[in-house]
Amino acid sequence: MSVVSPVRDLVTFMTSALRAPAVIGAVAPSGRALSDLLASVAPAEGAPVVVELGPGTGVVSAALRRRLPPGARHLAVELDPGMVTHLRRTRPWLEVLQGDAADLQKLLADAGVDRADAIISGLPWTLFPESAQRGIIEQVTKVLAPGAPFTTFAYSHVRSFPTQRRFRGVLEEAFAEVVVTPTVWRNLPPAMAYQCRHPEDA
Ligand SMILES: C[S@@+](CC[C@H](N)C(=O)[O-])C[C@H]1O[C@@H](n2cnc3c(N)ncnc32)[C@H](O)[C@@H]1O
Repeated sequence: MSVVSPVRDLVTFMTSALRAPAVIGAVAPSGRALSDLLASVAPAEGAPVVVELGPGTGVVSAALRRRLPPGARHLAVELDPGMVTHLRRTRPWLEVLQGDAADLQKLLADAGVDRADAIISGLPWTLFPESAQRGIIEQVTKVLAPGAPFTTFAYSHVRSFPTQRRFRGVLEEAFAEVVVTPTVWRNLPPAMAYQCRHPEDA
C-alpha cells in the first residue's frame, strides 16, 4: 500500500544524502513554499506533459500533483535507486524514469514523449562540472515546447559564490528570458528560483 509520510520522506532523503552526498546535494527536501513556487510554472489546464528532474523523495512532485489538471502526464527522471524505489512506493501516480538527466531526450523518447510543457528541476547543479550543466541544459532546451518554462532553484546564501554565478551564466546563455524570484524565506536554507523561457537556439 502507498502511504505518503513526511517522516518516511525525510528518513529516505537523509539516508540517501548520507550515502551519496555528491548526488543528492542537500540535507533536507525543499519545503512546501519552495515546492509550490517551483510547481507554479506548470500549466494548470489542458493536458500538459510535465517533467521533473531530480524529484528526490517527491515533495515537488506532490506540489505538482496539487496543481496539475486531471489530463496531465507527469514524469520524473531520478538517478538515485533508493529515491526511485521510494517514489514508486509512495507516489504511484508519478511516472518515474530511472536514469540520468543528461539522457533526458532518450529517456523521454522511450516513454513516448517528445516535448514537455514544463520542466521543473531539483538537480544539485553546483555539484556538476560546467560541461555537465551545459549538457543537461542543452537536453532541456531540445525537449521544451515553444514558450514552455524551465525552472530550478538555488540556495540564496550561495547566490554570489563563483559556482552559482557560473550556473546562472549557463542559464543566461541558453535562455532569452531568465527571471530570478524573490527569496523564499520559509525554506531550509532559504532559496530562490530561476524561471527560464525561450531557448536561444530554438
Ligand atoms: C537536492 S535533491 C532535490 C530533491 C527534491 N526535488 C527537492 O527539492 O527536495 C537532488 C535530487 O537530484 C537527483 N539527481 C542528482 N543528479 C541527477 C542526475 N544527473 N539525473 C537525475 N537525478 C539526479 C538526486 O538523486 C536527488 O534526488
